[in-house]
Amino acid sequence: MTDRLKGKVAVISGGASGIGAATARLFVAEGARVIVADLQEPLDTALADLLVSNPEAAKFRRCDVSVEADVVAAIDDAVATWGRLDTTVACAGVPGQGAAADITADHWDRTFAINARGVFLFTKYAIPHMIKAGGGSIINISSAFGIVGGPHFAAYAASKGAVRNFSKATAIDYVGHGIRSNSVHPGYIDTPMVQNIVNNAPDTGAAQSMFNALQPGGRGGVPEDIAWGCVYLASDEARFVTGTELVIDGGLLAR
Ligand SMILES: NC(=O)c1ccc[n+]([C@@H]2O[C@H](COP(=O)([O-])OP(=O)(O)OC[C@H]3O[C@@H](n4cnc5c(N)ncnc54)[C@H](O)[C@@H]3O)[C@@H](O)[C@H]2O)c1
Repeated sequence: MTDRLKGKVAVISGGASGIGAATARLFVAEGARVIVADLQEPLDTALADLLVSNPEAAKFRRCDVSVEADVVAAIDDAVATWGRLDTTVACAGVPGQGAAADITADHWDRTFAINARGVFLFTKYAIPHMIKAGGGSIINISSAFGIVGGPHFAAYAASKGAVRNFSKATAIDYVGHGIRSNSVHPGYIDTPMVQNIVNNAPDTGAAQSMFNALQPGGRGGVPEDIAWGCVYLASDEARFVTGTELVIDGGLLAR
């Protein structure tokens, strides 16, 4: 590894599993110190090992991103532990499945509480610390379905579209403080989120085929494919990159 994030401090929501866990592992490997903020204990075994073997660089904190006080506490934990905050990766998310006529208003609200409001709260409470630090990088995980619609993902696609434009609005508002804000748009990535959708489908084979068929290459990516994009956006290599969308989707949006 090449210390691309040496000296930086990050908070990663949804860091216990999938894309968030891979991001936490790569951030530490590149020299960052990381708070892993999640509802659940680390599911990713390599991350769980890292939390034990390198507590100076990685710390777990239970956090529900839809609860304002939890988000404040997670952000403050980074500053109290390591004295600064350089990066947030808002990765916590839920799939929010169903077509418009088939979902309830409560389902819509819950999807937005986590996927959109949770992202807003991470940004809101990170900004004062980043202003103090002279800048920072806000990284919000949206989706390919934050740019185009997805089949039976009405609330999810709407919440991910909100993340995309919220990230741009933030970029404009805080560019004068050296704060960059960008969204990341994964295609289908093989993680516990998708595995759960497939395993709970009435026809698991058909559900898996549906995901594979989204991808021009016929298969999904792995969490590290997205995590490397987050390393780039958190690093000084991306110092002129703000208000944009980093699509990492194996070509899903190309057709
Ligand atoms: N996997 C994909 O194909 C894919 C594609 C596009 C976008 N994404 C997005 O990537 C992000 C990560 O998804 P993943 O596929 O790694 O899923 P995952 O289920 O493996 O990880 C999501 C994590 O978010 C956490 N989480 C859920 N609700 C939370 C809450 N209220 N507070 C704190 N943490 C909470 C979960 O506990 C879990 O650890 C999500 O925002 C998802 O929408 C995933």
